[in-house]
Parts: sequence; structure tokens; C-alpha cells
Amino acid sequence: MKKAVIFGAGGFIGSHLVKAMIAEQSYFPVCIDRTSDKLQLIAGGSGFEFHELDISTQSEKQEELVKDADLVIDLIAYANPHLYLKIPLEVVELNLFENLKIADLCEKHKKRLIQFSTSEIYGMSDGTEVPFNEDETNLILGPVKNQRWIYSCAKQLLERMLYAKGQKGKLDYTIIRPFNFVGPEMDFLVREDSKDIPRVFPGFMSALLFNHPLKVVDGGKHFRTWTYIDDAIDAVMRIVNAPEQCKNDTINIGTKGNEISVSAMASMMVEMYEQITGKNSVSLLEEVDGLEFYGEGYEDCDRRIPDDRKMKRLGWDPQYNLEETFRTTMEYYIQTYATEQQASASS
Ligand code: NAD
Ligand code: UGA
Repeated sequence: MKKAVIFGAGGFIGSHLVKAMIAEQSYFPVCIDRTSDKLQLIAGGSGFEFHELDISTQSEKQEELVKDADLVIDLIAYANPHLYLKIPLEVVELNLFENLKIADLCEKHKKRLIQFSTSEIYGMSDGTEVPFNEDETNLILGPVKNQRWIYSCAKQLLERMLYAKGQKGKLDYTIIRPFNFVGPEMDFLVREDSKDIPRVFPGFMSALLFNHPLKVVDGGKHFRTWTYIDDAIDAVMRIVNAPEQCKNDTINIGTKGNEISVSAMASMMVEMYEQITGKNSVSLLEEVDGLEFYGEGYEDCDRRIPDDRKMKRLGWDPQYNLEETFRTTMEYYIQTYATEQQASASS
């Protein structure tokens, strides 16, 4: 069986991708990450190879694995906005420079690379440019002092380097721009008022499970478009299995109709929580100022809607609407963390 070397396989998207590859039996997953906890939880304990590696220190092993691969997929990044302001230089070091080394290995050993970028590459939008088109939409970022955009800028430069390599016939790549995927084991749950801030869904889910306020930034006026992880992985596998059609192309993955404001999302999650558990939630919505919540340099984009024509041409037909996306994910978390939740409630 062909081998897929998956950098960052232990993460949220990676662990669900490995599970799908094991089921499809098209590629054998060779997983690289610093941890395999989520892989065990989501993909189970067998059907893949795991190498505990920190790509910023162990390059020889990486080259050995890439040389033996039929396909390379790179998911490694700091992908949490809280970190863009907390460790901006490390975000560039990892998301650009370390990722570029993976692309250089693929170029050297003539391996196809599927590189995960982000919908955040489109930067700020006052809502007039949506839906975002991969080849036409301008990429507009806030001022340098607003360091939130260092992530988007690092991803953009990586994309431009891959594009240039492709133009010179040096690299066969496909870039994926995910639009807010959500599903089991995304980021981490916060049990008390910790300094670490996960992305919004795990943040709100933590608040509901462990009875603290849902912190809604700047009135929750920003909008996001959500894709359930199973639909997202179906899209990724279509790209994996269509090398010629996707060669040297950039593709949005997002469920166009699943847009909601953060404030409406918070209210919907409280309501769903009460329906699923049959209990009244004690968690309240607490409005927080973005600069206080994230720190200096925070800025946000109003809307992110994907132009999904390229994925539709690959036969992609997402099955989960907004309600099903959130209900399915919340049912998983409530079921999986109920016992811990009861313990915390009684303490
Ligand atoms: P994640 O944080 O769950 O996964 C990233 C993985 O990379 C983690 O398992 C982490 O351990 C690993 N990693 C980080 N530094 C490493 C190092 N030095 N050596 C080895 N492994 C290392 O993130 P995710 O949500 O699965 O996102 C995966 C990719 O998709 C990222 O490139 C992210 O920018 C992109 N993306 C994700 C979303 C989303 O909705 N989840 C949206 C847009 C873009
Ligand atoms: C994220 C990350 O940048 C990447 O994972 C990825 O590149 C991008 O999503 C994407 O999916 O393409 P963002 O959507 O801003 O970006 O991440 P969140 O932290 O989930 O924030 C979403 C919105 O919720 C923002 O408006 C934020 O201010 C708000 N938020 C976040 C809250 O109101 N409360 C919280 O506790 C957390």
C-alpha cells in the first residue's frame, strides 16, 4: 500500500484524517507529531505508524521518512489566535520556516505535498469581498502593530513560496485553505480560569461543561462559516485521490451555508446544551473586550465565506448543516466528558 507521511497527524484535523485513511485503505498513514494522544482517541491504536518527532530538532529522521513516502501532508502549525499574540516569532519560525523545510524535502525527493494553509489568509474583510475566491480575492491584512496577522502573513508567504516552486516545475503541491472546521477533540478544554485560550468552540464548550461564563469577544459581532470535521475530511480525501486535477492548485474547504455570528453561536450552544442534557445551564454569556481578552495587537475579520466551486467540481457535497454540525460535536463532548463534568459540578 502507498505511504502517506503526515506531519502534525496528532492534531485535531490530522487524527480525523488518519482515521479516514485507515478506513479507506488507499494510503498507509505514517504519522509524525510530538504527541499521539488524539490519534489514539480518534483513530484508535492501530492501522498507522507513529513517530514522536519535534520537526524543529530532528531533521534526519524526517528526510528518511519523506524519501520513503508516496505522498506528504503537512498540518503542522500554531493555529490558535491567542498564540499569534503571545509567541509571534515562534509562530513564524514554525508556520513558515519549519514548514518550508518540509516543502524543500518534497522538492528534493520529488514527492507530492498537500500543505494546509488557512481561510485566515484572506485577512480582514468588511463583508464586501465574500465569498472568498482562491485565485481572485485580494489578501488584506491589518497594520504590522496588530500582530494577530503574523499567522496569516506567515501562511501567505509559505503559499507564495510553494506557488513559485510550482511555477518553476520544482514541486507538485496542493494547498488547502480550511474554513473553521469543528468536531471532536479540537484544541483542549479549559477547566478553570486558565491563561490558555482555545479556539472559540472548545472555549464555549468548556464553559458549558465546567460551569463558567462563555466569553463573547466584542459582542460576538464577527461571523464564521463552520464545517463539520467529517465533511472536511471527505473533502481532503477527495483532494488526496485527485493528484492530477489538484496539481499546483489552491482549494478552499468550507460549507458555504454554515455562517453564523459568534454571539448567535453562543446562544445556540447554550440552548443545545440544555436540550441535550435536559439541564438548565448555569453558564452565562459574558461580553469581553478583544484587546483585554487577547492582548495588544488583536484584530479580527468580520466574515469568512468560501467560494466552494473547486470542491464541488471534485464532487464534494457536505452533509452537515450548521445545527447538525454543532449538535453532533456537542453530543460528543457532553458524552465524553460527562463524568468529569459531574465531578467538577459536585466539587
Ligand atoms: P492542531 O494544533 O490540532 O494540530 C497541529 C499539530 O502539529 C499538533 O498535533 C501539534 O502537536 C503538531 N506540532 C506543532 N509543532 C510541532 C513540532 N515542532 N513538531 C512536531 N509536531 C508539531 O491544529 P489543527 O486544527 O489540526 O490544524 C492543522 C492545520 O490546519 C494547521 O496548519 C492549521 O493552520 C490549519 N487550519 C486549521 C483550521 C481548523 O479549523 N482546525 C482552520 C484553518 C487552518
Ligand atoms: C482560527 C485560527 O486562526 C485557525 O485555526 C484558522 O486559521 C482559522 O480559525 C480558520 O478556521 O481558518 P478564528 O476563527 O479567529 O481563527 O479563531 P477563534 O479563536 O475560534 O475565534 C473565532 C471568533 O470567536 C473570533 O471572532 C473570536 O474573537 C471569538 N472568540 C474566540 C470568542 O468570542 N470567545 C472565545 O472564547 C474565543
